[in-house]
Amino acid sequence: MSVEKRVLLIVSGGIAAYKSLELVRNLKNAGIAIRCILTPGGARFVTTLSLATLSEDKVYEDLFSVADQGGIGHIELSRDADLLVVAPATADIIAKMRAGIADDLATAALLATNKPVLIAPAMNVRMWVHEATQENMAILNDRGVNIIGPDEGDMACGEYGMGRMSEPDAITIAIKKLFQETNSRDTALICKSNQKLAGKKALVTSGPTHEPLDPVRYIANRSSGRQGHAIAAALAKKGADTVMISGPTNLSDPIGVTVRRVGSAVEMFEACKRELPADIVVCAAAVADWRALHPTDKKIKKDGVVPTLELTQNPDILSFLSQSISNRPRLVVGFAAETGSVVDKALDKLARKKCDWMIANDVSVGTQTFGGTKNTVHIVDQNGIENWPEMSKESIGDRLADRIANHLNTDHD
Ligand code: C5P
Repeated sequence: MSVEKRVLLIVSGGIAAYKSLELVRNLKNAGIAIRCILTPGGARFVTTLSLATLSEDKVYEDLFSVADQGGIGHIELSRDADLLVVAPATADIIAKMRAGIADDLATAALLATNKPVLIAPAMNVRMWVHEATQENMAILNDRGVNIIGPDEGDMACGEYGMGRMSEPDAITIAIKKLFQETNSRDTALICKSNQKLAGKKALVTSGPTHEPLDPVRYIANRSSGRQGHAIAAALAKKGADTVMISGPTNLSDPIGVTVRRVGSAVEMFEACKRELPADIVVCAAAVADWRALHPTDKKIKKDGVVPTLELTQNPDILSFLSQSISNRPRLVVGFAAETGSVVDKALDKLARKKCDWMIANDVSVGTQTFGGTKNTVHIVDQNGIENWPEMSKESIGDRLADRIANHLNTDHD
């Protein structure tokens, strides 16, 4: 008989708090017991009554309240839960978690817990990209705190960017997944289950490359880097020491990942070689196949003559890493972004480049794969083809990191 799981949901003070009401409903519908702590900031956005009604329980608010402490205090609140969820997690509560500050009921419960913690950050984009927040997040990630989001999109403050809280459905899925992974009410250590790749080094390439023609012009492609960044984030979440070599993108650095920025394919190649040896390599970058043979130091003048571009082949990073004799990583994964018969082309590429897995995806016009938030992929390896349904690039990252962890933790040598 399955034991009912219990979530302690901490609602802190952000406009996204309204979405937490839907999260409570989702969890109740999923048969998960839920108890809420509402911070003073959170109480400016949602009412105690709405949370109490939806959670069918008392809402806890005050660290020093005789009523709250008399019944059940911060120690019991965290002891009684299988998982602590902070949604929304503001920049402020994230900073307090990092520092170990416990000046209200929510932060005291978070400091007192030895249970897994999931946070769903939500804040203005500039607060999110601020070095202080990013550093706090990296430290929480290192400590094994589970993180979902934030998402990119329109914000309540009228701006656009990273910082929206993940949707309640996505948080619900993450919670269910964590319960599957921990599968015990007695999980004593924070997120051990998330560290399946601890001790492994992962190298990920991401984004496009820019191949200069002169100081102002370059050849590029439409890759946004989202898929590569999501894979790097997922590998780091699983405990891999992850280095991402990224071409130029507008994305913020994934949490817990060491990012090395490069411009051209040759720079990416050199940066990858410097990172060897590695256990896992995922080449998700859309590396330009060709570069200008003679890029100029001075801007090419418009003098009435249309210039002719002489191109030369770029090094193939994936082929090089797959075929390196002394330093071959245990698992090398490539991407085959194709139009038309994507799986056939991926099979051909798998054989030609000699990597272990090839991930085929369709980048035809209309698929929105390049630059979009979703992807549909087919994993091609020596055992056959695995077709994955359409999902977010983040979910593909998580699922791929799982597949990689399972592969490496099974003896394939
Ligand atoms: O040959 P094609 O560019 O289609 O192969 C795609 C795969 O090879 C991707 O995994 C990409 O990251 C990798 N690649 C590479 N270096 C190149 C070209 C492609 O690593 N110069």
